[in-house]
Amino acid sequence: MNESENPVLETMAAHRTIRRYAQDPVPGEDIRRALEAARMASTSSNVQGYSVLQVTDAGERARLVELTGGQPQVAEAGAFLCILADQRTHRLAVESEGAALAPNLETFLVDVVDAALLAQNLALAFESMGYGICFIGGLRTNLEEVDRLLELPPDVFPLFGLCVGVRAEDPAKRPRLPLEAILHVGRFGTREELAARVVAYDEEMARYYAERGAPGRTWSSGLARKLSKPRREGLAAYYAAKGARLR
Ligand SMILES: Cc1cc2nc3c(=O)[nH]c(=O)nc-3n(C[C@H](O)[C@H](O)[C@H](O)COP(=O)(O)O)c2cc1C
Repeated sequence: MNESENPVLETMAAHRTIRRYAQDPVPGEDIRRALEAARMASTSSNVQGYSVLQVTDAGERARLVELTGGQPQVAEAGAFLCILADQRTHRLAVESEGAALAPNLETFLVDVVDAALLAQNLALAFESMGYGICFIGGLRTNLEEVDRLLELPPDVFPLFGLCVGVRAEDPAKRPRLPLEAILHVGRFGTREELAARVVAYDEEMARYYAERGAPGRTWSSGLARKLSKPRREGLAAYYAAKGARLR
């Protein structure tokens, strides 16, 4: 079976992040329809440790453009959703049974994984409906100010945003690492084999960037810039203050 015979694989393979949107709003009915499907994502022990906050106020969305590091799509997309790990329902359920919630790193990871699975299902649902999407990790750049702006309650942990809307651009697909760099059958290959695959991918990404006006840039050079110094170092303190335990 090839992708064209399987509409799910076809939608997944056609993914590109969309950063320019038409002004059309996304009807609430479409958001509910996408979330209805997305929430059937598998969830660890059925804990469903997530929630979604749609930001509707234009002033708040304009402020979020700044707080996410100057990302105009946060205001321009038809809708902007925050994806949160959420242990509020867990606390309610456990306390209703006369017990106390015992959060730790495991419960935090479970909620983050659940939220990410929900979010990718949601993105795919929107894409299957013809919308474009852009995740916004920039939501974590100024988390305390985002928290104040949106008046987030304790026990919720904002992870990233999701722009959704009618596409106003048609970017090329961004190449990925070769399958052999991520799929290991039985045993991992050698470091040398992996290094060769990264070199090949760098060459492919160099062509991709050069065609888009950024000659000389590679995947490795981008990662070296991003991953060689710690970023967003206040996250542990922020999440702990909201009720997470990270040990
Ligand atoms: C959790 C997450 C956070 C992201 N944050 C941002 C962001 O803040 N701004 C942005 O423009 N793209 C963001 N992206 C999109 C990635 O840059 C994009 O998915 C990646 O470069 C691959 O490109 P593609 O989605 O077009 O294939 C994010 C993606 C993920 C999964």
